[in-house]
Amino acid sequence: MSTEKVVVSNYQEMAARAAEIVLQRMQEKPKLVLGLATGSTPLGLYERLVESYKMGKTDFSQVTTFNLDEYCGLAKNHPQSYRYFMDKYLFSGVNIDYRRVHFPSEVEDGDEYEQKIMEAGGIDLQILGIGRNGHIGFNEPGSDFKSRTRVVDLTEMTIKDNARFFTQPAEVPRQAVTMGLATIMDAKEILLLVSGSGKAAVMERLMMKKPSVDVPASVLHSHTKTTIIVDKKADGGQRDLPSSL
Ligand code: GLP
Repeated sequence: MSTEKVVVSNYQEMAARAAEIVLQRMQEKPKLVLGLATGSTPLGLYERLVESYKMGKTDFSQVTTFNLDEYCGLAKNHPQSYRYFMDKYLFSGVNIDYRRVHFPSEVEDGDEYEQKIMEAGGIDLQILGIGRNGHIGFNEPGSDFKSRTRVVDLTEMTIKDNARFFTQPAEVPRQAVTMGLATIMDAKEILLLVSGSGKAAVMERLMMKKPSVDVPASVLHSHTKTTIIVDKKADGGQRDLPSSL
């Protein structure tokens, strides 16, 4: 297992370290296939990618992207849809070719999404955030480690956590379509970003647990190349990965 935990001092440093890795991979492989996440955590990373493009240092024209997840029942241009989020914070700021942008909500079904990822040669680098209940994408606790792209029901905790983005909690969709845990694990490299004291409890559970469906992100302990970049507030000064993992 080669999960590496990198502890940084704050959110900005986490974003900077993540951007360094993504930009380096893009330089090594202009046709990089990127798996993208939404949520507040990767915003600083996306900001830096846009900045790098605007400074003429980065070219997105040949990059392919696959987003992790999307709510069910929200139109593409709904301000809370993940498609809208990505357009706003990344795609509109860089020279991405929209024909190479993929969302699991914009295909017939999960199998077609898996097929498209395969045809693109697989995901080279997957960006991830984590939910307070340990979810990655929308793979809630109890999700099968063998799961693939599919429609899932959201837990009350996730609905509550994500309600802050909607005018009313009742507006939060109850279902989403997400890459499965096995889909995520197929990525050649994974970057998990964790920031803020609100994530300290889940971070501790993640680092202490052997892979268990109770903490879906713990599946990453079996991945061959995962880096967890965590800031001090989320790390809570916790111990390192148990050496048995
Ligand atoms: C949502 C997304 C996840 C994301 C999580 C955490 O539930 N589906 O992909 O990791 O939120 O969001 P935040 O980064 O805002 O804490």
